[in-house]
Amino acid sequence: MKALVVYFSKFGNTQKVAEAIAEMLESAGSVCVLSLEQLTASDMKGVDLVVMGSPTHRMNLPEAVRLVLKGFPRRILRGTHIATFDTSYKMSWWLSHFTAARRLARALRRLGGRQIAPPETFHVMEKEGPLYEGEIERARKWAEFLSGKLQRQPESAPPKFST
Ligand SMILES: Cc1cc2nc3c(=O)[nH]c(=O)nc-3n(C[C@H](O)[C@H](O)[C@H](O)COP(=O)(O)O)c2cc1C
Repeated sequence: MKALVVYFSKFGNTQKVAEAIAEMLESAGSVCVLSLEQLTASDMKGVDLVVMGSPTHRMNLPEAVRLVLKGFPRRILRGTHIATFDTSYKMSWWLSHFTAARRLARALRRLGGRQIAPPETFHVMEKEGPLYEGEIERARKWAEFLSGKLQRQPESAPPKFST
């Protein structure tokens, strides 16, 4: 499996989660970790899984993330498995619907990505962090879940032969 983990991070918390995810995915294949600023369209070619993470800003994606996503060619992720995460405050059930991970998932689906898991949130205590205790461990478990999911994905249907 070839995986790409991409993150945007203002204070370093989302980066820590991204690195923990990448470390765990390495047991299933090759993994490249890039910040969104480093990402180019060609990095996404020939990749089996793209995991993307961002902090939630004002119940949405940070503007910098939206701008980068807007610049990608249409359908660049066609057929590529995707999963998204964010870092956010702990919120009420209602407000927890307005996360960067949900917005990211929608944006990556629009680029043709095939979402393999619900968007996930890892919690910070304050604006600049730190992450709550146990969140890095939870990120590792989530990565394990993603890699298991990918291994169980059915291959494309076998050709039908008429007799
Ligand atoms: C301008 C701004 C707006 C924010 N808005 C939200 C928000 O709407 N909901 C939320 O849960 N956290 C919000 N936060 C807190 C961020 O989620 C937190 O800073 C982030 O998880 C830290 O990740 P980072 O270290 O990778 O930047 C906001 C932070 C900033 C700087």
